[in-house]
Amino acid sequence: RKIYMITPTKRRAEQIADLTRLAQTLYLIPNLVWIVIEDESQLTRRIHRLLQSFHLPFIHLNIATPDYLKPTQNQSTWRRPRGMIQKNIGLQWIRQNTNSNDDALIYFADDDNTYHWKLFQEIRKIQSVGVWPVGLVGELLYERPICLNGKVHSWFHYMYRKRKFPTDMAGFAIHLRLIHQYSNYIFNVSANSIAEQESQILNTMTTIDQLECLANNASKIYVWHTKTQSMFLTSIEKLRNAGMNYDLINEL
Ligand code: UGA
Ligand code: MN
Repeated sequence: RKIYMITPTKRRAEQIADLTRLAQTLYLIPNLVWIVIEDESQLTRRIHRLLQSFHLPFIHLNIATPDYLKPTQNQSTWRRPRGMIQKNIGLQWIRQNTNSNDDALIYFADDDNTYHWKLFQEIRKIQSVGVWPVGLVGELLYERPICLNGKVHSWFHYMYRKRKFPTDMAGFAIHLRLIHQYSNYIFNVSANSIAEQESQILNTMTTIDQLECLANNASKIYVWHTKTQSMFLTSIEKLRNAGMNYDLINEL
């Protein structure tokens, strides 16, 4: 069974390193199409070269987050949904390039998380929508559905208690059939409501009692919501003052 994995990616000093680590994880996963959507007004050569260097099946797309969707100066970044307009482009590509009766699964995978290869084995078991624990998220060691006989009984979570489906984007995958069935569904990119994106797509496409508990009845952690620390880098200007400059060897 094929997996389409949607990864938005934002330019930053650590981007190539994060994508390299993720691409190397994908060497362990057969039959996966990696849909990478750059947050850029044009495709970049640097990301294209990186993707090509791995000989993995990939689709390379782009869309820039418009200024009105970016956090304002007095908002911290988590006040605004991130990578949503890019995920929508990924959904659009899937709807245009697959058939509604293809047997495939859709997974939203950020570029900085950590994925165990067994996660993808679990995803391939899904009939409609699968859920599982996510490590290092929501100010907890993990958030997870609490499951009885393969069905969700309740959720273990601490932040934003009002969410109907209190899971991170990394904690579920959806059958392609539902992506076609709800063919108008897109993430609400201008939503101010924090952490509601996951609940909105799940509330549209499924119900709590239809969810399939994976990862051994949601008792195993196969994905971690790790965050790459942004490195302190000396400015180009300071380097210049020290009589130094970079050669163009930093890109692949
Ligand atoms: C969490 C969830 O894991 C994300 O799936 C969700 O999009 C996000 O919250 C949200 O609701 O805003 P988090 O680690 O907080 O993720 O966010 P980032 O890793 O900073 O961004 C998520 C993805 O979008 C990354 O792949 C990142 O490269 C990309 N991104 C981020 C953009 O494409 N553009 C941006 O401006 C920011
Ligand atoms: Mn992240």
